[in-house]
Amino acid sequence: MTSTPWWKEAVIYQIYPRSFFDSNGDGEGDLPGITSHLDYVQKLGVDAIWLSPFYTSPNKDGGYDVANPRDVDPRFGNLSDFETLIDRAHELSLRVVVDIVPNHFSDRHAWFQAALAAGPGSPERNRFHFYDANPDGTPPNNWISLFGGPSWTQVEDGQYYLHLFDSSQPDLNWENNEVRDDFEKTLRFWLDLGVDGFRVDVAHGLVKENIRENHPDPQGLSDALRLDVDMDIEKRNALLMSVPFFDRQGVHEIYRSWRKIFDSYIGREIMAVAEAWVHPPINATLYVRPDELHQVFNFDLLTAPFDEDFLFDVISRSIALTATVKALPTWALSNHDSPRVASRIGDAQSRALAVFVLALPGSAYVFAGQELGLPDGKLRDADRQDPAFLRTNGEVKGRDGARVPLPWSGEQSPFGFTTGTPWLPIDPLWKSLTVEVEDLDPQSTLNLYRQALTLRKIHLTGVEQMQWLQSSNSEVKSANLLIFQRGPLQITMNLAEHAQEIEAKGQVILISSGSLEVHGEKWLLPPYSCIWSLN
Ligand code: GLC
Ligand code: CA
Repeated sequence: MTSTPWWKEAVIYQIYPRSFFDSNGDGEGDLPGITSHLDYVQKLGVDAIWLSPFYTSPNKDGGYDVANPRDVDPRFGNLSDFETLIDRAHELSLRVVVDIVPNHFSDRHAWFQAALAAGPGSPERNRFHFYDANPDGTPPNNWISLFGGPSWTQVEDGQYYLHLFDSSQPDLNWENNEVRDDFEKTLRFWLDLGVDGFRVDVAHGLVKENIRENHPDPQGLSDALRLDVDMDIEKRNALLMSVPFFDRQGVHEIYRSWRKIFDSYIGREIMAVAEAWVHPPINATLYVRPDELHQVFNFDLLTAPFDEDFLFDVISRSIALTATVKALPTWALSNHDSPRVASRIGDAQSRALAVFVLALPGSAYVFAGQELGLPDGKLRDADRQDPAFLRTNGEVKGRDGARVPLPWSGEQSPFGFTTGTPWLPIDPLWKSLTVEVEDLDPQSTLNLYRQALTLRKIHLTGVEQMQWLQSSNSEVKSANLLIFQRGPLQITMNLAEHAQEIEAKGQVILISSGSLEVHGEKWLLPPYSCIWSLN
């Protein structure tokens, strides 16, 4: 008998360590701060936590610039704090997923320092992408960094190195076996410490092609890769098909070799989830073929408008695409790289959508603070730290707004997050959004998530299929409604800003906001709401 692996339908809670809880008053969250609040996470009803990087890092890109992938940065604690964290999590039946950042190291990594010292043509430089300048002194090609500016930085002896992200994040050369061996070592290092899985950063980026060639439209490509730039869809798609540094076929062989390592930890059910922004969307499924990784993030909902046609299409497509490789989809409404869903679509809308999505088949990711209904923090430019802000001279505001620390308790900012000064200011208005306040309020977003997660476990575990019952695309045309059945539950979302009547069926067990009026055989759904009914 094979039982369903834990991750297949798991709800995974993403913690951005710097912003979760500060245990020592230096203004930054840390590992002991997480450990001391795991009971809160468990009570929420999630199955696992995913920790964004806490490795040794100069922190130029929120820790995604790793200087030593097998140690803890002192700002977060040390390895023994990590062991305590993992023990406590396992005691509470929470699995632990950690980030792995294979596309690049920090320029503070010993390898990069050695490469600078060793000079052109050396084996040390071959671990990265060092190239000579063009005869006219320009960089080897015209690619633009994802954070803005050129993808190349010149070193003293005239060579350039490639960095798809910040100049402090030199890309690694995955054709070099030392790179491969080093990452295998890192995987085993964390697996031996007891982690249950990995979130693979920029999983689609490891292999580059045609490095010595210019792209015909580097600015267009850069805009196409930026979600905050509006662009004609055909044009964007055409450009996305031409990225020479993403989604090259060579990456899959790397994940096949990783899978062998994961599977060698018998009985542990190790999982890995790929961050892979690829086009066309079917390509994402290649990362979760049976001998590769286990999940791939689905980013569609991070940018989706609160619109029934759009949601119907992207949800149907995700389910259909992952079914082609016998995998289940994943869902995320927020993460550390995008605006928070409550700010993006509105408070009631985000509650409705969250409850809707938590009823879908597959696995769901919840970004810490989402369960409180946090909006993006309002920041002054002087507070911003995102390299995307710094590299574009402020043209791109960057991702700091989603990374503001969590409000825990009390009346005044920083609301128990720290006894010192938080690394990003916390809005005084968040006093109504603290864990303390929401815990006691039965109508709070926090208690809505708790209820949804409890009911999901009870009614939806093991139910892989869902059927649309009514949508704007179905025969029964009804505007602003999405309805599906999954197992014993009917999920109905009213996307209109006014109340709408539907046929009563079964018993309502969850409502995202407002209250339901019963009119004979009809239910009147409040504006922007979602209900679960049991039939
Ligand atoms: C991923 C991370 C993001 C980081 C980038 C470079 O997209 O989620 O935060 O800036 O990789 O490592
Ligand atoms: Ca701290």
